Amino acid sequence: MTLPRTDGAPMTRRNLLRGLVAGSALLVTRGAFADELVRTPRLTEGPFYPDRMPLDTDNDLLIINDGITPAVGAITFLSGHVLTAAGSPVRNATVEIWQVDASGIYLNSTDRRRPRYDENFQGYGRFLTDAAGRYGFRTIKPAPYPGRAPHIHLAVNQNGRRVLTTQVLVRGDRRNAGDGVLRRVRDRAARESLVVDFAPLPDSRIGELAAEFDVVLGATPSAPDEPVKGAISPSEFSQRGGRRHATPRPPAARAPRGRIY
Ligand SMILES: [Fe+2]
Repeated sequence: MTLPRTDGAPMTRRNLLRGLVAGSALLVTRGAFADELVRTPRLTEGPFYPDRMPLDTDNDLLIINDGITPAVGAITFLSGHVLTAAGSPVRNATVEIWQVDASGIYLNSTDRRRPRYDENFQGYGRFLTDAAGRYGFRTIKPAPYPGRAPHIHLAVNQNGRRVLTTQVLVRGDRRNAGDGVLRRVRDRAARESLVVDFAPLPDSRIGELAAEFDVVLGATPSAPDEPVKGAISPSEFSQRGGRRHATPRPPAARAPRGRIY
């Protein structure tokens, strides 16, 4: 199938997914020590990790398999790197995201509003990082739901083990200040590392947004602080239909027109 490109030219889905991870810049915060980055704090997994996986688990959450109707919502390219505290890229890490649809409903049978869920929204996606530690998703800007500031849940797995569970929040959202989950992160730099711009994508004719979120793992990943349901190994990744979509090419080798990212 083809998807509209920001410059109006058709673009295959494959190329789109490639492009979206190719251009992301490194925007991590430096820690107290010059050679250490601020480690991404753990935030709760919450109760709504999918209890049944969607039919499609790729990194384009707007379209399920070969569907023709995209999900409702503000289209957002979420991308970044997975890094060690010393700034080295972490390759072959599986990044998972899950989030509510545009009406604030989760792809989870225990969400009481589930019957009104946008069935065109994948709600969950995963991506295997490349040699530069990059990942990328096309999704929607997170919507609020009662009691929480808008957020995207994000988890990182290495060798079948969940090493980090966190959330990405929207800079400038008035609900952040009162968000109990975010406020539990006492260190200011760590808290701010979870809040990123969802900025208009230059030249996008359809108002797409871009958000960059770099994940910094601890030097030695500690045991998760709560049971997790989503840890997957690379072999499971392929068994479940996960694909490494994008071996990102350097920007010069990409289609010259229309920055997708
Ligand atoms: Fe949530």
